Amino acid sequence: MAEDVFKKLVAHCKEYGFVFPSSEIYDGLGAVYDYGQNGVEMKNNIKKYWWDAMVKLNDNVVGLDSSIFMHPTIWKASGHVDAFNDPLIDNRDSKKRYRADVLIEEQIAKYDEKIEKEVAKARKRFGDSFDEAKFMETSEHVKAHAAKRDALHERYKKAMNDNNLEELKQIIIDEEIVCPISGTKNWTDVRQFNLMFSTEMGSTADGSMKIYLRPETAQGIFVNFLNVQKTGRMKIPFGIAQIGKAFRNEIVARQFIFRMREFEQMEMQFFVRPGEEMKWFAYWKNFRLNWHKALGMGDENYQYHDHEKLAHYANAATDIEFRMPFGFKEVEGIHSRTNFDLSQHQQYSGKKMQYFDPETNESYVPYVIETSIGVDRMFLSIMAGAYTEEQLEGGDSRVVLKLPPVLAPVKMAVLPLVKKDGMPEKAHQIVDSMKLEMNVAYDEKDSIGKRYRRQDAIGTPYCVTVDGQTLEDDTVTLRDRDTMEQKRVKISELHDILYRKVSGHELFERLIKVQRETAVK
Ligand code: GAP
Repeated sequence: MAEDVFKKLVAHCKEYGFVFPSSEIYDGLGAVYDYGQNGVEMKNNIKKYWWDAMVKLNDNVVGLDSSIFMHPTIWKASGHVDAFNDPLIDNRDSKKRYRADVLIEEQIAKYDEKIEKEVAKARKRFGDSFDEAKFMETSEHVKAHAAKRDALHERYKKAMNDNNLEELKQIIIDEEIVCPISGTKNWTDVRQFNLMFSTEMGSTADGSMKIYLRPETAQGIFVNFLNVQKTGRMKIPFGIAQIGKAFRNEIVARQFIFRMREFEQMEMQFFVRPGEEMKWFAYWKNFRLNWHKALGMGDENYQYHDHEKLAHYANAATDIEFRMPFGFKEVEGIHSRTNFDLSQHQQYSGKKMQYFDPETNESYVPYVIETSIGVDRMFLSIMAGAYTEEQLEGGDSRVVLKLPPVLAPVKMAVLPLVKKDGMPEKAHQIVDSMKLEMNVAYDEKDSIGKRYRRQDAIGTPYCVTVDGQTLEDDTVTLRDRDTMEQKRVKISELHDILYRKVSGHELFERLIKVQRETAVK
């Protein structure tokens, strides 16, 4: 069922100019996508909402735009050359390649599915008198599945933490995991595969240098830490924010724009005094969750997920997950990265990466809290939450994207009721008076009902209809996308009614309140 919705969402994104497969006329390129006329507007709106909330709202956060190409030693220092790997396994019969960790995680999920089936069966059997908590505690079948799941989870966690590739393969054999294509257990050994793309810089084979396409934007911030701190006369604590492309040679690239090989990140590194990182970690965790929730997609659709296995640089890490059609999934990561990155760059470059703290009269390598979110994954989460199929009175139905107005690609559509009697001219005047403030569309083709449906399908929050009365008293009907209610308003009032909703002012007011209430002392 959820899969069905997801397929429809992917088709909808293509049909309405949000997301196209890359190089489609050449049969596409795996896990690479292009954003169409509506997609690029929405993507830009996501980036603006993030940038304004991080850079404009926080006096001590400034921006940066560093290059994708960087000195290759940066990736040695950061640990990516040696440790940015996925464990891979091939099936010899189907010649298909899988991530060993994903195969095992899917197996763990199968035990949960078995438990869910037992619960569903029992609920059917016992009807209203069914006590789920008691059933979970007492059912022998449920207990057996849960024990197997927990044992597998422990074994898997240990193998991953120890980087034990033989053990990962042994788990796959012991669990009798088969290749979904060939159905066989004819597996190769597990080996590590580095996710970074590389290319050559320079013209001759001898003189050229192997460089990497950045797998995260964060390192561009670290290596510019002192440039920004000194030229901006920044005092700790302060942050540097950046939006830009990142590249990863993902092996299991599925689920549309959830896992891509070329994607965009919005990252902020916040530099703090050693020992103060945990209170800032808590602050940013809360601020970032509120940033998501302010969009009004339903608070119940977000959750934190603390990491069990910490990355090589972190001493705490949490994901913010969103309820996608395929379950709760990570959209953003908040990491306490210690002073790992700056210390490594200090060591590899031989240049001091220290800050002199005028309050304590000490020099130190700052600690860092990172907030890191994928633009594309954010885009998918919003699309997934907004996609709605509605049955209307009279047997009619509609597909509507209930996008937060601040993110909607088109904020208002102006529709002349008929293509004559001066209505198109009046409609154009309204478009012209608003188009510098927000993205406005004009549409005069087809019946008014069809035009409303077209705007619903791309998530336009407001439609304005120009009719005969408009020509007499300068009023229009203003239709709300979600309630479909229409009211008559003066043209001169349109700007004020719409602007607060579509500009994000209301969201920022909520965030400013959060800032005040949670200010770190
Ligand atoms: N600098 C830290 C960092 O890059 P990450 O958890 O690997 O951390 C951060 O990535 C975010 O980037 C993720 O939460 C996700 O939103 C996005 N992301 C990572 N890999 C991605 C991929 N292959 N496709 C799309 N988005 C991705």
